[in-house]
Amino acid sequence: MDENPAVRQEMVTTPEEQPQPHPVVCNKYRGLLLVVFAFSLFAAAFGLGVYCHLQKNADPWMPRWKSAAPPCLSPACLRVTEHFSVDMDPFSRPCDYFLFACGTGGSYTSEERHSVKGVSNEDNRELDKKKEARTGGNVRMRRETDFQGKSDGQQVKFPDRKTALLKTIKEILEAPEEGVSVNAAEQKAKKYFSTCMDAESTEKVGSKPFLTLIQQLGGWAVSNGLNRTDFNTTLALLMSQYSTFPFFSVYAGSDSGEKQTASSQHYIQIDEPYFQFPIDWNSKTQKSKASTRYLRPFYMSCGQYLALLGVPSNQTTQHCGLYISLSTTLALATAPLHYRLSQKLLYHRITIQELQTLAPAIDWLACLQATFQPLPISQSDLVLVHNLPYIIHMSQTISIWQVQHEMMGTRPLHTYMIFSLLHTLIPALDSRFFQTMRNFSIATGDTQEEIPRWLRCVQQTERGFDTLLSHAIRERHARKEAEELIHDVYLSLKKKLTDLSWRDNRSSAFILNKIKSLNPRLSTKTNNLSHAELNHLYAEVVLSEDDFFSNYLQMLVLEQKSRSRLLSHGTQTEGLSITPSISGNDIIIPVGMFVSPFFHSSYPRALNYGTLGSLMAKDLLHHLLPNIHKQANNPESESKCIWSHYLSVTKDPGRVVTFSLSPSKQQEVWVQYTALQVALDAYKMSFTRHPGDSSLSGLSYIHLFLSSFTKVTCDADSYHEFMPFEPSFLVTVLCSNSGFCPKPLTCVNKSQSYPRETCQSRTLH
Ligand SMILES: *[C@@H]1O[C@H](CO)[C@@H](O)[C@H](O)[C@H]1NC(C)=O
Ligand SMILES: *[C@@H]1O[C@H](CO)[C@@H](O)[C@H](O)[C@H]1NC(C)=O
Ligand SMILES: *[C@@H]1O[C@H](CO)[C@@H](O)[C@H](O)[C@H]1NC(C)=O
Ligand SMILES: *[C@@H]1O[C@H](CO)[C@@H](O)[C@H](O)[C@H]1NC(C)=O
Ligand SMILES: *[C@@H]1O[C@H](CO)[C@@H](O)[C@H](O)[C@H]1NC(C)=O
Ligand SMILES: *[C@@H]1O[C@H](CO)[C@@H](O)[C@H](O)[C@H]1NC(C)=O
Ligand SMILES: *[C@@H]1O[C@H](CO)[C@@H](O)[C@H](O)[C@H]1NC(C)=O
Repeated sequence: MDENPAVRQEMVTTPEEQPQPHPVVCNKYRGLLLVVFAFSLFAAAFGLGVYCHLQKNADPWMPRWKSAAPPCLSPACLRVTEHFSVDMDPFSRPCDYFLFACGTGGSYTSEERHSVKGVSNEDNRELDKKKEARTGGNVRMRRETDFQGKSDGQQVKFPDRKTALLKTIKEILEAPEEGVSVNAAEQKAKKYFSTCMDAESTEKVGSKPFLTLIQQLGGWAVSNGLNRTDFNTTLALLMSQYSTFPFFSVYAGSDSGEKQTASSQHYIQIDEPYFQFPIDWNSKTQKSKASTRYLRPFYMSCGQYLALLGVPSNQTTQHCGLYISLSTTLALATAPLHYRLSQKLLYHRITIQELQTLAPAIDWLACLQATFQPLPISQSDLVLVHNLPYIIHMSQTISIWQVQHEMMGTRPLHTYMIFSLLHTLIPALDSRFFQTMRNFSIATGDTQEEIPRWLRCVQQTERGFDTLLSHAIRERHARKEAEELIHDVYLSLKKKLTDLSWRDNRSSAFILNKIKSLNPRLSTKTNNLSHAELNHLYAEVVLSEDDFFSNYLQMLVLEQKSRSRLLSHGTQTEGLSITPSISGNDIIIPVGMFVSPFFHSSYPRALNYGTLGSLMAKDLLHHLLPNIHKQANNPESESKCIWSHYLSVTKDPGRVVTFSLSPSKQQEVWVQYTALQVALDAYKMSFTRHPGDSSLSGLSYIHLFLSSFTKVTCDADSYHEFMPFEPSFLVTVLCSNSGFCPKPLTCVNKSQSYPRETCQSRTLH
């Protein structure tokens, strides 16, 4: 079966038989083609030499890497095949492919490369359309050209990783029930999702559920009949039962200052609240102020909410006026992140007792105890405050308003809290509320399309059922094959790093020890629960078939529990994240990475390693990079070599290009090339362990591996903006002098001198 005729033919394909390169591109780069040709002859000869030599060895990888593999026919493989059309095959159009194309068959010129559209720091709306990847704080740019659909022969683009994860969750939630109540918790998540998708039920009941809830909370001054309610009691109730944080927000997380140490302790964090209108920052006076031009639309939307709640319109002026006045007063002391960072206002450590002294209007202990029940929280516990001046200002404002307005019976503090609650609950109310909110957000310049309903429902389900979902993904998608992939990638990464040439022995020892002590793990212990434990976790949840509002309230309670688990476990439930993180001595590889089309346990391993293996290696390198870059020589020397290779191949005779790479680009080139090598090495390791693999479209193992790498770097690389050329060019570099590639990367029939340098690393030989 090794000697499949199709593959043999492929291996002996000569340059002349290859598809003609795109004329426009190639004429322009005639010079470089010569280089490539000569180069490839050399490569072929060299490769053959290596091949013959190595075939003598017992290594199972060497004789078989270029051989045909039995096709993978699993449903997942059949689905992923659409991503691997001929257009996508690096070796079918080597001429334009590696330099410019990134998968578009040559139509993608270097000029288009620069017409990228910046996706700014918007939230993750309309994931289907504008895809955005946010990794390590870098907001990336994404090419707008989106080659969706295969009708015209174009290959189907990989989705970005977040979208792929959300779609996987949707599939899990929509899958038909199997077995009877084996997994009651999963049934609950599915029921939640289906009631969320059923838009009708919320329309029928209108605003009634919310009005009933207000009654239970003691009424409000806006409609008559407010019982005496205690400010602190109501606030604690909203925080604990309704995930609503009117005056300040509260969450659990680690201290960024402790990242370098092995600690993975989590703290209560107290931050500015979310305001429902835009706030302007005056950088001269360094003051915040609510944008005045949006106050009128804001007032209008407030009046619309009241009308929807059946409040007579003559009440609007007073209550909406007070609401806006209180909101804008609070907003005065907020500050944007960059300012807080420069003023060292982030991660301010303080005990709850000290906080009580500084901001006495809030009963901090009671509120935090309620938020993190059943955990014991005491006065002496440390919390991290991210804008103490705001917290002090907020407390003073509350005290003043308490005295000034409460006597008049208008109770603006209480009304403010009810409005915050309304905002939390809008997704569970009828669509007129949502439309009002949406109209206001459009009025403030939000041009994004509405998020599709399924996406909102997946996100909500994720808020309440995060533990269950990461468990479900792990069970279905990230099995033994995932553990092996992690193991192989980390092992080959360690090997690669050990081989680096370090500037100084002591620091290299420190770094290498650290890398050795880190232990990569598939998510956290919360993902390793048995079905019984999971069912127990969700035992108190009783979901209704048709009352989405009550289901939504239960989801909020689940979210509270998840928040306190996060605080007590000290490790994050990272199951639904998409990038690795370091926690203490563990590298947490989230199960959310192991979703198709990036990974599937039935895929050929060449695909899994080429795709997710290289992504994982890249993510890990980015985590470890700050240390490596300073201490090792390789990033600089190897990236310079690759860059000069690139320049020599693309050199336009009439043009002198001698600019060198900026440090961040140098670094990225090295990371990406190293990731390719690490992934290939990991695949080799896996192949040696289990000789044999399946394949797609009749490709040989190595061919499929390289195609997968190219595919994923072209479509889903979150660091694309830091690359000075299409990352697929790295395959050219890899193929330039090793016998690894299925066929020479030639372009036309001319010959020229080829680059003398070879940027190969030792690990590949
Ligand atoms: C106020 O309290 C009384 C007695 O506790 C109760 O009957 C009434 O329903 C409450 N009203 C509201 C608006 O909560
Ligand atoms: C609002 O109007 C109703 C009658 O339409 C009246 O009874 C009530 O006193 C008015 N309230 C205010 C605050 O003007
Ligand atoms: C909330 O409780 C704290 C602590 O008991 C108290 O000092 C403060 O006055 C209360 N706030 C209000 C607005 O009643
Ligand atoms: C939202 O705006 C649209 C268009 O301006 C309008 O037709 C619609 O009635 C508004 N909806 C609400 C609930 O205000
Ligand atoms: C590092 O140690 C090796 C042997 O352990 C030695 O040959 C080399 O000179 C040392 N390099 C530096 C920079 O100290
Ligand atoms: C998961 O739990 C089982 C027993 O409950 C244990 O044997 C296994 O090692 C655990 N796996 C991980 C990755 O923690
Ligand atoms: C080689 O290149 C020359 C000139 O560019 C062209 O005329 C010739 O047809 C080419 N030969 C092949 C086999 O493509």
